[in-house]
Amino acid sequence: MDERVAALLRAAELAVEGRLAGASNATVRCRLVGPSIPAELRCVYKPVAGERALWDFPEGTLAARELAAYLVSEAVGWRLVPPTVLRDGPFGPGMCQLWVDHDGASLVRIVRPDAVPPEWLPVRNAVDGSGRWVVLVHADDVRLRRMALFDIVVNNADRKGGHVLDSAGHLYGVDHGVCFHVEPKLRTVLWGWTGQPLQQAEQQALRELREQLAGRLGTTLRSVLRAEEVTAAATRVDELLRTGQFPGPAEGWPSFPWPAI
Ligand SMILES: Nc1ncnc2c1ncn2[C@@H]1O[C@H](COP(=O)(O)OP(=O)(O)O)[C@@H](O)[C@H]1O
Ligand SMILES: [Mg+2]
Repeated sequence: MDERVAALLRAAELAVEGRLAGASNATVRCRLVGPSIPAELRCVYKPVAGERALWDFPEGTLAARELAAYLVSEAVGWRLVPPTVLRDGPFGPGMCQLWVDHDGASLVRIVRPDAVPPEWLPVRNAVDGSGRWVVLVHADDVRLRRMALFDIVVNNADRKGGHVLDSAGHLYGVDHGVCFHVEPKLRTVLWGWTGQPLQQAEQQALRELREQLAGRLGTTLRSVLRAEEVTAAATRVDELLRTGQFPGPAEGWPSFPWPAI
């Protein structure tokens, strides 16, 4: 199914609708146009030429990292990343990702301490602009937990609440341009499971992913990322399997994104 959508993403003509406000890169929403393409299909198109330069990631590589994140998500069978391809577009080569409508409730929120939804996991206390205490919380949701694990594997340096989209009950993560660095850079709002043991199914999925990284997935990823970056991803999976639990924020690196949502 996703491969069919990916084929459409590659083949369609991109009709620019507009630039997304608040995006840090030149991020554009397009309609997919072409024979046999459903009229409602849209995509996010991020041209490489519009990527903001970052001090810690090599220039012009963010689009490829988005594709790599999609490939890992597909390989592990979690389908957390909307279908993503690399292709040429109106502003040159870039990444193109299926637009998913966020129509569910937000699973990551900032609330007053007395308004934490039952069973939700507190992540961090903070003071808001008017000096009142607030708490960053997220749901204890199995789909979100998988996303947290995925982020550890891909070393996601920017998992904000707004990058978690609930579309018709399916949870998606978006904005994976700053993943797969060789150094630890996990920066996320999903710290609620720190110290919790990995479930059997999670361990099994990680073992399978590890095998795939040693095989065909690894080969494919090396055509998209640098070889050391693929090796580092495999090492992170090994480390998760060795400790058998969700890690906590690392020292010496800002572990929470700003803004959080
Ligand atoms: N595939 C998608 N489907 C729906 N909305 C998306 C998708 N990708 C991004 N968005 C929305 O667009 C916003 C900006 O995109 P993002 O990927 O965060 O761009 P940037 O890399 O410039 O930060 C996101 O916060 C999200 O609200
Ligand atoms: Mg973003």
